[in-house]
Amino acid sequence: METKNLLLASLEAGKALLHAPVHHTDAEQAAKPQPHMVPIRSLGANHRSRIAAHLLALDAHDRYFRFGYSASDEQIQRYVDGMNFGRDEIFGIYNRKLELLAVAHLAYAPQAGHESCAEFGVSVLKTARGRGYGTRLFERAAIHARNDSVSQIFIHALSENTVMLQIARNAGASVQRDGSETEAYLRLDAPTLDSRMTEIVEEQFAQADYRMKVQAKAFWDVLAQVQAVRQGAAQAQRDVAA
Ligand SMILES: CC(C)(COP(=O)(O)OP(=O)(O)OC[C@H]1O[C@@H](n2cnc3c(N)ncnc32)[C@H](O)[C@@H]1OP(=O)(O)O)[C@@H](O)C(=O)NCCC(=O)NCCS
Repeated sequence: METKNLLLASLEAGKALLHAPVHHTDAEQAAKPQPHMVPIRSLGANHRSRIAAHLLALDAHDRYFRFGYSASDEQIQRYVDGMNFGRDEIFGIYNRKLELLAVAHLAYAPQAGHESCAEFGVSVLKTARGRGYGTRLFERAAIHARNDSVSQIFIHALSENTVMLQIARNAGASVQRDGSETEAYLRLDAPTLDSRMTEIVEEQFAQADYRMKVQAKAFWDVLAQVQAVRQGAAQAQRDVAA
């Protein structure tokens, strides 16, 4: 049943890409019914520059919440350059312009003996908040960690970051406040065939969605160029006739 829903969502996403991009106002966007499935894909090192662009687009307040300090552009760039795509897992949600709306980093403990622990960090662009992306990324990271035999996932957040802590609480994490900082821990069950299959299907769906977005963007870019050339030629004709 879940697989069927995934395939239907994939088909709908593909059909939507065949329509010219429409620019909705924020109010229209909020009123639109949100898709059941969110295409969350695993990101490799070839997505590094888009991850940097996503994080650099965060304002000072969001950077403070995301990193626990007001990270400068240089500090963000160093963080992205230092991302270990071999050890950690990075997840992202792309829009049809191939901009990353949301990025999550599941960081595995580098110290030997702590392999059963992973830390979760996430950011969603302001324009894409409140659609459940943060929640879905946490679920996706948790299922991945579980399938990697991680037994505990934790979030280090500022105590004032009520939205992030709400996501953790909703997932069943135990939340421990220590002054201005709070740690949330979520215990994970052992992997099962079902948890592995769910992750495989979700990743396949997200990869297919991404490929369609790449093709659709290439198509619309070419069309825009053709239209620009046509408009230029028409203008030249008008200029000659005038
Ligand atoms: C935290 C963050 C990732 C949440 O992303 P999001 O996609 O908007 O989150 P969701 O849509 O999944 O909403 C999560 C929950 O918070 C609630 N929520 C969302 N916005 C809220 C707001 N402004 N005030 C109160 N609650 C809010 C939602 O209702 C939801 O709870 P519910 O499922 O019980 O209804 C996003 O705000 C962000 O990027 N913040 C800056 C960086 C940051 O703080 N990162 C986390 C540090 S690790």
